[in-house]
Amino acid sequence: MLTLNQPHIGHAEIKRVTRVLESGQLAQGVEVAELERAFAMYCGTKYAVAVNSGTAAIHAGLHALGVGQGDEVIVSPFSFIASVSPALMLGAKVVFADISEDSMCIDPASVAARITKRTKAIVPVDLFGKVHDHARMVEVAHKNNAALLDDACQAVGASMDGHKTGSLGDATAFSLYATKNITCGEGGILTTDSKDIYECSRRFRNHGQKEGVRYEYLELGYNYRMTDMQAAIAIEQLTRVDVMNEHRVRNARRLSERLSTSVALVAPQVPADGSHVFHQYTVRLLGADARKREDFIAYLHARGIQAGLYYARPIHLTPMFAQRGHVVGECPIAERVACEVVSLPVHPGITLKDIDYIATNVLEYVG
Ligand SMILES: Cc1ncc(COP(=O)(O)O)c(C=O)c1O
Repeated sequence: MLTLNQPHIGHAEIKRVTRVLESGQLAQGVEVAELERAFAMYCGTKYAVAVNSGTAAIHAGLHALGVGQGDEVIVSPFSFIASVSPALMLGAKVVFADISEDSMCIDPASVAARITKRTKAIVPVDLFGKVHDHARMVEVAHKNNAALLDDACQAVGASMDGHKTGSLGDATAFSLYATKNITCGEGGILTTDSKDIYECSRRFRNHGQKEGVRYEYLELGYNYRMTDMQAAIAIEQLTRVDVMNEHRVRNARRLSERLSTSVALVAPQVPADGSHVFHQYTVRLLGADARKREDFIAYLHARGIQAGLYYARPIHLTPMFAQRGHVVGECPIAERVACEVVSLPVHPGITLKDIDYIATNVLEYVG
């Protein structure tokens, strides 16, 4: 089966994690500190704080930006739930803005239409590995005194105008979950240039304890610490991130070339500027209904190709938000795109021969 996601763990990861296991120092220690140094350097930021998930990184980042009760946070409904739930965890009100059809990322114009004096932060998602429209988003945010917490959980290594994700927003969250472009099973990292955000998020991941002073709890915090075992794996993965991303981009380019002959689907743009690292390669099936899409996925599955639905339901229409009064029509583009998307495999374990096989089967089905 050509799977949608597959971790790529090499000998270096196995060697390094074995060394940690043999050392007896399993919890947060020197490996976590080493990962933080290497990750900050890679992103071009002053600071990186390792935590135990991307969700924790977003939670810590929003907290450090001062989000709390009564604040509004603007988010995209076309993402994974963890782009949205940390705002709720902090007692803030979630406001959904619509996406742009081309990029499937949050649309700055929709954000501008929904921003208010109470908006404390915006969480743009670099969806499927594509950097959001950062320049326009900064303009909207600054004009309205809102902070930017970039959700780059799917976009490690992507860049915009020569600047890597991680260095674009006031703070940026990454995930190292098993399906991501680099992984350590579960894990997350927050990057920033702000000393205040750095210090606050380090406290937040460790029960709100004052740095270096045991049992001195300054504020509410959590156990969001990463282990040295996870960090050891992530350090080695980071040395290969660019090579693995290049493989994804090469696969995506070939697949888009092959699929360009069909008018039944829209392939994602493959920009040459590094702004897309293809965590997912997601096409839009035009005019599809739910049944046709399920048929398409089953057709590919029967031919040994796994296809997936990211995301079949916009977050504002899930029960948790429907109960809070969110309704159909609130984000019409996200609602339509959610019915059209299908993701196809392009990860580094997929060869160009596999890509040709995938393209042939997709074209056979859609015409
Ligand atoms: C866009 C997005 N945001 C946040 C997260 C949360 O990351 P994690 O699963 O590491 O908590 C994910 C990962 O699944 C994601 O894809």
